[in-house]
Amino acid sequence: MAAAWLKDAVFYEIYPQSFYDTNGDGIGDINGIIEKLDYVKGLGCNALWINPCFDSPFKDAGYDVRDYKKVAPRYGTNEDLYRLFEEAHKKGIRVLLDLVPGHTSEEHPWFRESQKVEKNEYTDRYIWTDFCFQGAQGLPYIGGESERSGTYILNFFKCQPALNYGFLNPTEPWQKSFRDPAAIATREAIKDVMRFWLSHGCDGFRVDMAPSLVKNDDEKKSGTSAIWRDVRRMLNCEFPDAAMVSEWSNPKLSLRAGYDCDFCLNEPGSGYSTLMRDYGNGEDHSYFKKDAGGNINRFLDQYLDWYEDTKDLGYISLLTCNHDTIRPRYNLDEAELKIAYAFLFTMPGVPFLYYGDEIGMRYLDVPTKEGGYYRTGSRTPMQWTAGKNAGFSEGKAEDLYLPVDASEDAPNVADEEKDPASLLNTVKEILALRHSQKDLQADAPLEVICTEPGCPFVYRRGTITLALNPTGAEVSLPLKDVTGEVLYKIGEGSAADGKLVLGAQSFVAFR
Ligand code: GLC
Repeated sequence: MAAAWLKDAVFYEIYPQSFYDTNGDGIGDINGIIEKLDYVKGLGCNALWINPCFDSPFKDAGYDVRDYKKVAPRYGTNEDLYRLFEEAHKKGIRVLLDLVPGHTSEEHPWFRESQKVEKNEYTDRYIWTDFCFQGAQGLPYIGGESERSGTYILNFFKCQPALNYGFLNPTEPWQKSFRDPAAIATREAIKDVMRFWLSHGCDGFRVDMAPSLVKNDDEKKSGTSAIWRDVRRMLNCEFPDAAMVSEWSNPKLSLRAGYDCDFCLNEPGSGYSTLMRDYGNGEDHSYFKKDAGGNINRFLDQYLDWYEDTKDLGYISLLTCNHDTIRPRYNLDEAELKIAYAFLFTMPGVPFLYYGDEIGMRYLDVPTKEGGYYRTGSRTPMQWTAGKNAGFSEGKAEDLYLPVDASEDAPNVADEEKDPASLLNTVKEILALRHSQKDLQADAPLEVICTEPGCPFVYRRGTITLALNPTGAEVSLPLKDVTGEVLYKIGEGSAADGKLVLGAQSFVAFR
C-alpha cells in the first residue's frame, strides 16, 4: 500500500547545484532550497526530489557518493538539511532524497578498505574477481588500481564500483549468492543509510538504478526484487509513511518489488519518449509538437498495458524531464508545452516537474561538467530574474557552477509571474485544478475515449472528461457523451449537440 500522501502529490525535482545560491559561491545550496519553498508551494508542488546532495568527489555530479550520511559541504551541513525537512513539513511539502544503492564513489571508505590485501569487514562489500588479470564474465571491470589481487566490477562510470548484493545464480568461485552473508551485509548497510535520513525527517527516496543490484539477475529481476521487498518490509514496520520511487521504467516489476512509484523514462523506443522528445532518428514526431503528425497511441500502447497491470499496486510517474534528459523546451515551444503539461498533470499516478521546465528553460549547449556530457545542458542554473546571473547567485559569473542562459529572451520566474498567460501561470492553474479535483489525482481511474482522427486525445478520469488537440487545426469529433461545464481550458473548446469541437492547440476539462 502506497503512502496515502502520494494520492495528491506533485513532485518538483531540484538539482541542488543549480537551484539557488545563498552564499555567493556560485553553487546552489540547501539554504537556497529553504528560501524557495514558498515558490515551490505556490507552483502547486507539494513534494521535492533532491538529486544527491551527499559528500562526493563529483565525478558523476554526486551519484558517486563518498559518505552517505554527510551533506556535501558545498551544499551546506546536515543541520541545514534537517532544517529543510522541518521547514518543508511546516508548509505541507514532503522531501525525498536520492538514494544511490548500486555503487559508491571509488573514494568511499568502504571501497578503500575493500581494496586492501588484508581481509576486513569490507573485503566483500564490492564485487571482486580472484585474480588481478581475471575478467568478470562480461561485466565491466577495472584491474590494476589496488594492492589486492583481483579486478572489481563497475556499476556505471569508472568512478562507481558496484556494491556487492550478490548474484542470482553464481557460476564462478568469486561470485556470491544474493543470500550470502556479505551480500546481506551490503543490503543492511543501505537500510542503515535509509534509517538515518528517515529518522532525521526525510520522507523517502528516489532510488537510483533500482534494478541494478543483483548481478546476472533474470528477466523478472527476481533477486533484486527480493531485496527491495525486504527493504519495503523494513519501511512498513519502521517508517510506514515513507515513499519509494524507482528509476526503473518497468512498473510491472518495480511496483511488485515494493516501490510506490516508477518513472517512465526516455529510453529509445519507450512509449513516453514519443510524447515530447521524439527526435532520436532525424524527424521529430513528438506527439505534442504541433503538426508533426505524432500519434498518442505510440505512448498509450505501452502505458495502458502498464497501467492496467499495475493500477492497484502503485503509481506510474510521468515527468516533464529530469537531470538526464534533454529539456522539453529543446523542441517544443511554449504553446506546445502548455498542452503537454496539461496532459502530464491530469493523468493518473504521481507527476514530476523538473526545475525550470515550468518557465520553459532551454537546453543549453555547454561543455560537460562533472560527468554530465550531453546531460549538462539540462542542468544549468535556475532563472529567477532578468538580473545578475539570472537571480541564481550573487557570485561572479565565472564562479557559477554552470553558465546561465545569456540570451536576451531567456525566460525567468519574475517576468512570467507578471504575465497571466505565461507558461508558469498555466502550470500553476493546471496544478491547482488537479488539487481541486479528486478525480484528477493519482488514484482516479483512466478511461480512453478517443484517440482518432488527426490525433486529438479524449480521456476520462472519474467524472471529468479531458480533451486535447496538440495540432494547429481545429477538429470536430462526434462524441455524444462528452458534455458538462468547462472546468478549465487552454485555447478554445466546446461540447454541444453531440459534437466536441477543439480549437488549434487546445486542452479542455469538462465536468
Ligand atoms: C542514474 C542517474 C544518473 C547517474 C546514474 C549513475 O541514471 O539518474 O544521473 O549518472 O544513475 O548513478
